Amino acid sequence: MLVSRGNSRRIRIRKALAGFFMLLLTAAVCGCGKQEHVETEPEEAAQAEKLISVAFSEVGAESDWRVANSESMRTTFTEENGYEFYFEDAKGKQDNQITALRNYIVQGVDYIVLDPVVETGWDEVLQEAKDAGIPVIVVDRMVDVDADELYTAWVGSDFEKEGETAVEWLDSFLKEQGREDERISILHVMGTQGASAQLGRTEGLEKGVEAHDNWELVGQVQGEFTQAKAYEVVAEVLLETQDIDVIYCENDDSAFGAIQALEEAGLTYGTDGDVIIISLDATEAGLTACMEGKINMNVECNPMHGPRVEKIIQQIEAGEIPEKNYYVEETYFTAETLTEELIASRGY
Ligand code: AHR
Repeated sequence: MLVSRGNSRRIRIRKALAGFFMLLLTAAVCGCGKQEHVETEPEEAAQAEKLISVAFSEVGAESDWRVANSESMRTTFTEENGYEFYFEDAKGKQDNQITALRNYIVQGVDYIVLDPVVETGWDEVLQEAKDAGIPVIVVDRMVDVDADELYTAWVGSDFEKEGETAVEWLDSFLKEQGREDERISILHVMGTQGASAQLGRTEGLEKGVEAHDNWELVGQVQGEFTQAKAYEVVAEVLLETQDIDVIYCENDDSAFGAIQALEEAGLTYGTDGDVIIISLDATEAGLTACMEGKINMNVECNPMHGPRVEKIIQQIEAGEIPEKNYYVEETYFTAETLTEELIASRGY
């Protein structure tokens, strides 16, 4: 069901307002000037009309990161803050997102916010939004479109840089251990194929492997950004080979899946074990595991995009042109840099 609680109210108000103006028009035409049959409460309607409608198409609920991202949107776009918020969970399917966007266009919302499951395949529906005069703000993952004018602005992470950060850390960690000339076998647990987060993080790792003659990718498996899938695919790999020095997991949930598979296979991992675990996201659970030494390093991918998207909307409302593409500043963490206070202060 696309229409949210706030929406049915808005539709009622719109209908009432339409009726109100029709009556005014009729009164003006027949010169009678009577309005006693108007059923709306103009004050409430006027107040509701001031709300900015923001319609968000979310990827799904596949990970802790994603849940934090949805929450950030929900807590930003509240009625108290002046917004009417519509939310659709696409359950990881681009088709669901295209349907949601088309419905939002028909509804005539003020802004569409899109977190695209994958990068390609958006030209047509974004053109429809453009033709309807609805600005589309892309968030987190990117769209790969023929013309940049099809979206108004994008805000999110530099996923390739995140991968490079992990590679640089691994390079210096191995040097510290005097293992820089050793053969290093890496198992790569990938995220959803075609998503910016997967494409960038994969690119970052593959470039790192290319730059190191002694690094070898022993497998690239589809973890789909979920713990369950990552567990399944890593467990399968471990039946074939246990000659693995590093597992590069494209998010925290897949790191937990990989850890589960390692434990079942009786292998040690993390700061006191044999297999180095690299993760991305730096969620509360991921950082806690990092502080406990279960994950060796964790690259930040900040999901708190609600306020960033709101800033863009407010710029547009003020007649300003927002920056077209804005990359969020991010860092990385190891057990040495983490404290409980720091983890608690991050809010996700
Ligand atoms: O697009 C961001 C990625 O998608 C996050 O790393 C991951 O956890 C999420 O599912």
